Amino acid sequence: MNEPELVKDAALFLRNKGIDEVDIGIILGSGLGPLAESVKEIARVPYAEIPGFPVSTVEGHEGVLIFGELEGKRVLVFKGRFHYYEGYSAREVAFPILVLKPLGVRYLIVTNAAGGVNRMMKPGDIMLIRDHINLLPDNPLRGQNWGGLGPRFPSMHDAYSKKLAILAKDAALSQGVFIREGVYVALQGPSLETPAEYSFVRLIGGDAVGMSTVPEVIVARYIGIEVVAFSIITNVANPYDPKPTSHDEVLKVSGEAGEKLIGIIREMLRHI
Ligand code: HPA
Repeated sequence: MNEPELVKDAALFLRNKGIDEVDIGIILGSGLGPLAESVKEIARVPYAEIPGFPVSTVEGHEGVLIFGELEGKRVLVFKGRFHYYEGYSAREVAFPILVLKPLGVRYLIVTNAAGGVNRMMKPGDIMLIRDHINLLPDNPLRGQNWGGLGPRFPSMHDAYSKKLAILAKDAALSQGVFIREGVYVALQGPSLETPAEYSFVRLIGGDAVGMSTVPEVIVARYIGIEVVAFSIITNVANPYDPKPTSHDEVLKVSGEAGEKLIGIIREMLRHI
């Protein structure tokens, strides 16, 4: 089966589960899991059942699609995501995003955990992603043009919606949560960065570094979905005083800051 047929198949499968006329897609990174529990659930489908979806393998990332109502909007929540470092191509990682279009989605909210390289940052900070630099050795659009679901050379000048960024900042303000804004750099992982690599990320204009998000955002823009994305800064890299980054610490900090980010997202949903 070719990819456009797989997308049609996946969308049909999800429609048969009662998932349709979706307003907003939400990808939950580390720490955002509790958001899924607030959704007034209409349907819940494990990724493994959906035609064309890969299967998630990483600890702390459950793979299930949750559809329902949140703050009066029809949301489709990706609880768990696929990463390049798991062995998938960027194309496989981002395939699930393609099904958002036939289900009616116009907006995508993406979250992740990231390491801060901007010296202003502290663990637990929330960063609104203003732009990204793709240093994955791959691009989800590499290869055949997915049956023309979007342009061959999609523009990325507006990868992150200015309109949604304003909503995000207003939502943060009204929740009394301070947020930063910056550039997210995607590296392949799974090994964390050396002090020299953290310095390099800073040198090229990055504020935070992580191992996800970019493939999904590229594909969302390819099919014309507007994107807003947030990083939870779980650790801060100081090249002059290098400390190990531990996955346990990432999960702990993202869980705490995740509550604040959930508040911002819920407030945004009321105004989208
Ligand atoms: N580097 C890459 N990915 C990450 C980090 C980091 O320091 N922290 C959380 N995700």
